[in-house]
Amino acid sequence: MTRYTADSRDRVRDAVDMLALVNERTELRRAGATEYVGRCPFHDERTPSFGVNPIEKVYYCFGCQAQGDVFTFVMETEGLDFTGALQTLADRFGVELQTEQEDPRAAQRRQRRERLHSLLARAATYYARYLWEAREAEPAREYLQARGLREDTLREFRVGYAPSAWDRILTASRRAGFSDEELLTVGLAQRSQNRPGQVYDRFRERIMFPSTDARGNVIGFGARAMRENQRPKYLNTAEGELYQKRRVLFGLDRARAAAARAGNVILVEGYTDVLALHQAELQHAVGIMGTALTEEQISELERVAKVLVLCLDADAAGQEAMLRAAQLTDKRNLELRVVPLPKGADPAELIERSGADALRERVAASVPFVAFHVERVFEQVDTRNSEGRDRAFQQLLPALKNLRRGPFGDELLRRIAGRLELTEAQLGSLIEGAARQNGAPRDAGRANTAGPIQDLPTDQAARAERAFLALCVALPDAGARTLFRIDADQLITSPAMRQAARHIAGRTRSPLADLPSDDEQLARTVADLVARAGRAGQVSEDQLAHAHLVLERARIERSIRRARAEGAPGIGELAREREAVLEQIRQVVAKLERAV
Ligand code: UTP
Ligand code: MN
Repeated sequence: MTRYTADSRDRVRDAVDMLALVNERTELRRAGATEYVGRCPFHDERTPSFGVNPIEKVYYCFGCQAQGDVFTFVMETEGLDFTGALQTLADRFGVELQTEQEDPRAAQRRQRRERLHSLLARAATYYARYLWEAREAEPAREYLQARGLREDTLREFRVGYAPSAWDRILTASRRAGFSDEELLTVGLAQRSQNRPGQVYDRFRERIMFPSTDARGNVIGFGARAMRENQRPKYLNTAEGELYQKRRVLFGLDRARAAAARAGNVILVEGYTDVLALHQAELQHAVGIMGTALTEEQISELERVAKVLVLCLDADAAGQEAMLRAAQLTDKRNLELRVVPLPKGADPAELIERSGADALRERVAASVPFVAFHVERVFEQVDTRNSEGRDRAFQQLLPALKNLRRGPFGDELLRRIAGRLELTEAQLGSLIEGAARQNGAPRDAGRANTAGPIQDLPTDQAARAERAFLALCVALPDAGARTLFRIDADQLITSPAMRQAARHIAGRTRSPLADLPSDDEQLARTVADLVARAGRAGQVSEDQLAHAHLVLERARIERSIRRARAEGAPGIGELAREREAVLEQIRQVVAKLERAV
């Protein structure tokens, strides 16, 4: 991280023309010796309450109390951090920044980085010129035009074309003084398989989309195939020193200011989506390059806007990505919304087919993630029988646990309760139960039944009992057979689990059915078991058998302890029983090990 001297800061502050800077965002008029006023750029208002003092170079809004100096103004309006604002202002007002004395190793690293960035920037320029000038790139130009992408958009994103020859970038870069090692590091060249020591251009006959870091430095490329059977469709820069796919957000440098202004950022899947949205005047769009949103991307996005608007293909992969985004934003102060798209269409295609207005309308009609998710689950799960209702509940639970109460949340809960054939109170305690058992206590205001509720089991025995019952739910047939045979009083020690076992026996297919409406304890326990079964995924009967045997062993060991304490006879018999169970455990463990 570059650190600039305090003196550089002062010089930038001195050089900035405060009125010119603010006037780019809002029109100012004179209102006193040293005061100007205008409409506040930080909140919606009709009458001007935003004051600027151009001498002190500070501002204050009498409406929303926003205040600051030249640096915060740029940070807030353009979504930059302090260093970014300093650099922007230094550029704009012609100040040369001085960095604090670096140690030689850091200086070396920075210089290497700068060289690699400049190598990539040169390549991007080369590809872009090639796209617009080469005869060979004519089909690419036609293709992009046919996709509805305008020249000004393509130029802004520095889209290019890689020649079919195998050494153009190589030769040009070497001539400019770059080494093969540098070319390999940034992923522009690769080693030949057949001729050791030989390197050649990695990207050939492809449309080139440069990826940049948050500051606009080129760090790699996404290269789209042009020929019929050219694989893969997109060839990306390999993971390396500068390019890490999990960090890339395509177009973030261009989207930042617009997103800060709009208060939200639109997430789309691909390169062409970003360009198409940008062209449709939705400049606050960034690409997540495929589907899996990462922690790193979320952290970066969090600094840009507090609302993430997912505009992803409605296919299975897109939905998977949305669920993942929901998990990642769960614990952060980020609001997640979804733009419903027609099945099988990405936003770029929607614009091509129905025009920019159609997409803008859909974006404007985005819905909270949870509402979208509920809609999806009810589309996909048949809730006419109790099994289906259980499945729907399992799939809804993760999203519902974080539902904030209020007109919107309450209405949603009413609809869900209706579909699941539960009363709202029942649904409420099911959700509550599952949330609490995951170690996330809800605020006390929501607990709707008074009275002591026995705490959930935490000791080892009870955990094993819970795992066993969850498996009975996950494997309803085998579970029903097992529960039919056991003596719950003997096998299960935790009263809550024993009660749940009795309820589930005979209802392993639909454990949530027939819950008494006045027993919150039972509802919570059963809901938790159902949720655990849902999370367990693919499980085998051997796992269930194992869980059962573990409880049998515990039961026998309890009997042995009791017999010892009471000095009762029959310990030998019990010990033999235990040996038999241990042997069975060994066998089933061996089977389980073979299965993986
Ligand atoms: P898509 O296959 O949906 O491509 O992949 P697209 O963006 O709609 O491309 P066009 O419109 O057909 O040109 C979405 C994104 O997934 C990544 C790319 O970032 C792409 O934009 N992707 C896809 C890859 O990285 N590699 C691939 O082989 C395919
Ligand atoms: Mn597409």
